[in-house]
Amino acid sequence: MSVLSGKNIILGVTAGIAAYKSAFLTRLLIKKGANVKVVMTPASKEFVTPLTLSTLSKNEVYSSFTIEDDDNAQWNNHVDIAQWGDLFIIAPATANTMSKMVSGTCDNLLLAVYLSAKCPVYYAPAMDLDMYKHPSTKDTFKKLNDFGNFQIPAEVGELASGLSGMGRMAEPQNIVSFVEKNILDQLPLKNKCILITAGPTYESIDPVRFIGNHSSGKMGYALAEAAASLGAQVKLISGPVSIKTNNEAIQVIHVSTAEEMYKASHEFFNNCDIAILSAAVADFTPKTVASQKIKKGKDCLTLELTKTKDILTSLSKIKKRQFLVGFALETQNELENAKTKLKKKNLDLIVLNSLNDQGAGFKINTNKITLISKDNKIIPYEVKSKKEVAFDILKYIIREIHV
Ligand code: CTP
Repeated sequence: MSVLSGKNIILGVTAGIAAYKSAFLTRLLIKKGANVKVVMTPASKEFVTPLTLSTLSKNEVYSSFTIEDDDNAQWNNHVDIAQWGDLFIIAPATANTMSKMVSGTCDNLLLAVYLSAKCPVYYAPAMDLDMYKHPSTKDTFKKLNDFGNFQIPAEVGELASGLSGMGRMAEPQNIVSFVEKNILDQLPLKNKCILITAGPTYESIDPVRFIGNHSSGKMGYALAEAAASLGAQVKLISGPVSIKTNNEAIQVIHVSTAEEMYKASHEFFNNCDIAILSAAVADFTPKTVASQKIKKGKDCLTLELTKTKDILTSLSKIKKRQFLVGFALETQNELENAKTKLKKKNLDLIVLNSLNDQGAGFKINTNKITLISKDNKIIPYEVKSKKEVAFDILKYIIREIHV
């Protein structure tokens, strides 16, 4: 899945011959799963029609501050458009528009959106080779880049003038790749490996039955998706759950028993930077597994159970650089129990869930957590979706590992 998937992208089109490529760019962005709104300068409509771009973007195209029809006038609010965008890509960016972006001139809707935009702005210059080489253009690039805009380098090739050289707008595919790479490079968990355990474990009693628990894996999978979206490579060690992921940054290692989860966790831990153990691991497992289905002949059945290995404690004993996070699911004396686990298991952070809290617990889509840090800082959160909770936990970890 592309990092552009689900992103709101404002595509700014200015009056250069390369504007015809904006149609291809729009199509590529839509194919990546982005939502696209096109803002055109009035003159760019000479090069590509708003109808083409609105059809491809599946959205209205904006090119003036107002739209007037017979009955009423509608204001195209530049601030609303700017705030809608997660990214603003201006392609092609002509010398004229770029110099106005530098000076703060605001004589069309596109420039008003640019001045209002708080999101990252990318611009893909397009002009003839001598214009491109001109010191004033170089100065424009420098100023635009100093403002924090991202320049998508022009390419060498045939130009509309018939000359050949540097100045062609980057090909739409290259613009998309540039933006994707730029976003990935800035993600806070880039180059980090995160190990996450999720779901329940099943401890077999006989070929038919097992000891399990109500964990659905939703919290662990939400953590994995959130970590991947922040740039991490994720090793998700999952007990038996019905959730799936097709995120390429998440490698799912399917396990069933506590012993299998222990082995998989140890296999991947050394190469990881962060480990978050959210699985509900069985504390006990049958001492022997009956080879045949146990018949109900007797009135009473006693199962002998032995303790499973505590994965979290075992990892804390071998940890080096890793930031180690545990979960504590409690039903009474919540804070005290969680603090004890934090200390006993030598963790950097523990995530407390109380089954007494409304909105927390198994199978549901929300959770209510309290984070407790190594130095006993207590940070309570409101009830939130498990997705939001995942981001809260990761944001906290990111702050901690970057200090
Ligand atoms: N955990 C683990 N291995 C186990 C048991 C638990 O890694 N065999 C981890 C869980 O994934 C969780 C943390 O330890 O991150 C705390 O789990 P929890 O079930 O709340 O606590 P326990 O240590 O099992 O203690 P108790 O059941 O007595 O509360």
